[in-house]
Amino acid sequence: MNSSTAQKLDIQKVKTSRVTEVDFNNLTFGSTFSDHMFECDYKDGGWQKPTIKPYGPLTISPAAKVFHYGQAVFEGMKAYKDDHGKVWLFRPEENFKRINKSSVRMAIPEFPKEIFLEALTTLVKLDKEWVKPGLGNSLYIRPFVMATQVGVGASPSTEYKFMILMSPAQAYYTGDVKVVIADHYSRSANGGVGAAKAAGNYGAQFFPTNLAREKGFQQVIWTDASNHEYLEEAGTMNVFFRVNNSLLTAPISDRILDGVTRKSVIALAKKDNITVEERPVLVSEIIEAAKNGTLKEIFGAGTAAVISPVSAFSYKEDTYELNKQEDGFATRFKKELMEIQHNLSEDPFGWRLEVV
Ligand code: COI
Repeated sequence: MNSSTAQKLDIQKVKTSRVTEVDFNNLTFGSTFSDHMFECDYKDGGWQKPTIKPYGPLTISPAAKVFHYGQAVFEGMKAYKDDHGKVWLFRPEENFKRINKSSVRMAIPEFPKEIFLEALTTLVKLDKEWVKPGLGNSLYIRPFVMATQVGVGASPSTEYKFMILMSPAQAYYTGDVKVVIADHYSRSANGGVGAAKAAGNYGAQFFPTNLAREKGFQQVIWTDASNHEYLEEAGTMNVFFRVNNSLLTAPISDRILDGVTRKSVIALAKKDNITVEERPVLVSEIIEAAKNGTLKEIFGAGTAAVISPVSAFSYKEDTYELNKQEDGFATRFKKELMEIQHNLSEDPFGWRLEVV
């Protein structure tokens, strides 16, 4: 919102909540939405009246630029309810910074911080009954921005819609996750949009991920676009490798998303004096480590799945199994993170924000 158009948050509440109609023990990730949503339009060079309204469909022109050029970015974050009924957000300012960083890369105007935080906390307060207590339960929050200007001219939109939706969630992945190391397809390239949470980054993964599924694997570990020599991300997550007792992960670059869970895992590991190497990780060194028994664990780290252990990976013709580590790093960091998120342990880093 530029200073000339700053306006008070308008709140239109639902008449009757739908919360009692939901089976919170049988949720499919991201398919049920809470009572309210946030909406704010950009036009005439400024963000207009920010509004919270009942969740529902939009009317949007089929010529809106988002449909033709994919000018859209999003975020993933969560709210948690502790055993005393208090609701918490986890590092919300990180998501705020990142959505604006993504927006800049996609030529979308940045959104004002005060409005974002007010909208977010007001929404969570309004829909607090949608956040269920218990480890693993959360309210997944999806802020996003899309280009709404009508017209198929290939240029940045002059109009946008910033929205926040909320969806009750249980664990994201279940069971073993087997991955294929990419040797042909790529997620991102130098100078590209890999560091942005751009909608198209995710849509572009669907086809190679389907190919992996046909071979009995659930996800792809993305490698660098130049030579497919370096391991970069796993599915929609950052990826960590435990070799002996050291943790290896790709450094942040314009090919890698600066994950909030990634940076939280690194902080937790360093606090426990675990060596963390943020450096390019070679496919060949991980295969060598798998062969000589020093590769103990591979796990993905992201908001939706939190930590997702990998049970096997394939590279070209070979498949390598990983022994299950009951008390490995993945289990330990997941527990530590979730206990901080659910207000079950101290928060030495100041990551929690109490909402209500
Ligand atoms: C997240 O973990 O926040 C993600 O980006 C996953 C999402 C694409 C479902």
